[in-house]
Amino acid sequence: MLQEEITAVLNEVIASGQFILGEHVKLVEEANLCGAKYGIGVGNGSDALYLALLACGVGPGDEVITTPFTFFATAGSIVRTGANPVFVDIDPKTYNIDPELIASKITSQTKALLPVHLYEQPAEMDRIIEIADQHNLKVSCPISDPLHRQKLLSCQPPVHNRCQRP
Ligand SMILES: Cc1ncc(COP(=O)(O)O)c(C=O)c1O
Repeated sequence: MLQEEITAVLNEVIASGQFILGEHVKLVEEANLCGAKYGIGVGNGSDALYLALLACGVGPGDEVITTPFTFFATAGSIVRTGANPVFVDIDPKTYNIDPELIASKITSQTKALLPVHLYEQPAEMDRIIEIADQHNLKVSCPISDPLHRQKLLSCQPPVHNRCQRP
């Protein structure tokens, strides 16, 4: 049973006293859960977003285009890098960023796009990446919400693989 497996591993971690890094984090990082080339364990979704933006080279003075319909950590992670969030409205059919509205918000300061996948519905990644490629932008889309993660990773190809890696 899954609960027993999880409890057993949690007990091992508690008994080891090692709550940062260590063997268990290494196992997750190397498990290739998303089919990505590299995996880095972090403490929460907010840090995952922030670190992904840093890996994309986002910094002070840059603009990152994102959706306003999301958890506050999305815009917060952009602000933490010193960049400015630029909001693009959502598609009322999917509640995700409307790709067709992105181009009008791109300026010479735009560095990256940060779509969010909500309610188990992936954002339109093929179209978003097409737009990013046309404008030489990075796409960062960590799948931070555990409730949505499994569904998104089970897409073919997994949503995660359609992000442009830094
Ligand atoms: C879309 C989204 N991004 C980021 C986060 C932040 O994750 P955490 O609370 O683990 O920092 C959440 C949390 O609910 C989220 O829903």
